[in-house]
Amino acid sequence: MATTKTGEPLDRATLDTILRRRLFYTPSFEIYGGVSGLYDYGPPGCALQANLIDLWRKHFVLEEDMLEVDCTMLTPHEVLKTSGHVDKFSDFMCKDPKTGEIFRADHLVEEVLEARLKGDKEARGLEAGKVEETAEEIKGAEDKKKRKKKVKDIKVVKLSDEKVQEYEEILAKIDNYDGDQLGELILKHEIHNPVTGGPLNPPIAFNLMFGTSIGPSTNMPGFLRPETAQGQFLNFSKLLEFNNLRMPFASASIGKSFRNEISPRQGLLRVREFLMAEIEHFVDPENKAHPNFKDVEHIKLKFLPKDVQEQGKTELIEKTVGEAVQSGMVDNQTLGYFLARIALFLEKIGIDQNKIRFRQHMANEMAHYATDCWDAELQTSYGWIECVGCADRSAYDLTVHAKKTNTDLNVVETLAEPKRYEAWEAEIDKKKFGPKFKKDAKAVEEALLALDQTQLEKFAEELKAGSFKINVPSLGEVELTPELLTITKQQKIEHTRSYVPNVIEPSFGIGRILYALMEHSFWTRPEDALRGVLSFPPVVAPTKALIVPLSSNPVFNPLIAELMKKMRQAGISNRVDASSATIGKRYARNDELGTPFGVTVDFQSVKDNTVTLRDRDTMKQVRGTIDEVVGAIKNVVDGVETWDDIKGRLKVFEGQELEE
Ligand code: ATP
Ligand code: GLY
Repeated sequence: MATTKTGEPLDRATLDTILRRRLFYTPSFEIYGGVSGLYDYGPPGCALQANLIDLWRKHFVLEEDMLEVDCTMLTPHEVLKTSGHVDKFSDFMCKDPKTGEIFRADHLVEEVLEARLKGDKEARGLEAGKVEETAEEIKGAEDKKKRKKKVKDIKVVKLSDEKVQEYEEILAKIDNYDGDQLGELILKHEIHNPVTGGPLNPPIAFNLMFGTSIGPSTNMPGFLRPETAQGQFLNFSKLLEFNNLRMPFASASIGKSFRNEISPRQGLLRVREFLMAEIEHFVDPENKAHPNFKDVEHIKLKFLPKDVQEQGKTELIEKTVGEAVQSGMVDNQTLGYFLARIALFLEKIGIDQNKIRFRQHMANEMAHYATDCWDAELQTSYGWIECVGCADRSAYDLTVHAKKTNTDLNVVETLAEPKRYEAWEAEIDKKKFGPKFKKDAKAVEEALLALDQTQLEKFAEELKAGSFKINVPSLGEVELTPELLTITKQQKIEHTRSYVPNVIEPSFGIGRILYALMEHSFWTRPEDALRGVLSFPPVVAPTKALIVPLSSNPVFNPLIAELMKKMRQAGISNRVDASSATIGKRYARNDELGTPFGVTVDFQSVKDNTVTLRDRDTMKQVRGTIDEVVGAIKNVVDGVETWDDIKGRLKVFEGQELEE
């Protein structure tokens, strides 16, 4: 069960109410009934997202000298056909032939088996008949009617020990099943429409891309991009050139992506339009060492490798990144480097360090382009959620695009030492070759050029003995004799090396991270469970300071104006709350918005230009001049000082808090 930082159970319904009431986010097109999987962000949501993006840019693009690009979302069909997305970017869905309802097959199996395990736990642990408690647990379900029906589906039924083990093993491997295997599970475990109990059709693949047509005629079909990555790959040569042909390097991009999710649920966690921040790190396939690996190798992470999951288990292995790479669990330094950098970023923005794990993909679950993949998963009240994918895409994308467009996407490097070697080579005598094969001469020559060293060596021997035969695709078998060509061993010298780079790709879903951060930051004051607080770190908090005049007395106005001006000059976002509510109520409203500081202007302020500064989390206050207080806020937001430092150097104040 998800808990808050005070150890209390996380009340998702209360959090959701606050987030919607405070306009962090809201369903899009709500007065038209809304559309599943589409949400708008209001002012605090926008500010929070902008601050996350700002930190992301500093942490990755600036610190690591990445090349940022902003590519179009509209993408021609041909590009996504070549990248494999048209054929393979799909999830499996099952249709209820009677009601027409559609379910995402893996999520359905997961939901039903989890419900059965819950029912079993109830039956074992609690007295029969306490179904109400189970109902409480899933009260977050959006639709009341559906909720009622779902509750009915959780039956308090004891399962055999073998069944419990089998279900747990299936759940540990749930991402690894293909469509046929999901179909078998659905049949074997008698999984039906959870609402009506009706049978379902077998799973079929559903492509997740939104199709469209570019321009007024229909001859350029396209899609809204499902990832920002393709734009980065297609600019690879230009970026390499921009980087003065230096390797390795990384590009980065922040922008919207679109996926026509089968059954969006879980609020911001599964939406149809979302902001992604992606990095494509281009690296030599023969050397995936990272120059800054030593800076992160000591960092400890919690890993869930694929072999553990394949055994149906979920125990985490805690290791340093250095040990993980050394032991081969994480394939290479660059992959390990990014896992550590992802963890540092998540820590910086305020993600609870006890709620992060790195889970490796199992063979079947990997995207069509990936050879290895680790997800940073964050624990939420919806379970462990993938928030950042970190894949080794090998040379897949550049190779397919180069082949399709006949473009050279290789890196050519000058060798420090020229490479000398011997190689078999076929040399044709054009004067005889042309007249002999006429219009087919080119095809025969191409077949010869396609021979590898072993074949050339073998044919050289056969040629000595008289002749050899090769297979020419358009002609069939062709016999070649010594007057037409020679095959000899030649001395070679190479000054350059050419290769297609491999790509390591950390891919961040900003909305998922934002939601997880909101859950991890949420708690309620022990003295009053209705008083919710969002303890965002000051650097990401949507608004940094609330200015609160003691009352609406105009005598405070010049001081408010001075505070606002000085804060604005210092880059501190602020709001004034001059409403007639008590100071305590005004503070409480801002605790819900995650505003870390409250600055109160009172009658003392009018006399000596001092104001009080209140810390959101401890509710403690200090008093100082306007300049001291603005400086203190700026220092905390910039990470130069902490609240404890401020409390130590400014005068502690105990006053208005009494009114809360
Ligand atoms: P899932 O298995 O949960 O559908 P995925 O494996 O398809 O996710 P990726 O393709 O790896 O996800 O996408 C990269 C990142 O984009 C994810 O880590 C996630 O943060 C984000 N993301 C993907 N799909 C969605 C979505 N529908 N809504 C919000 N964020 C998403
Ligand atoms: N670009 C990575 C992904 O879409 O998963």
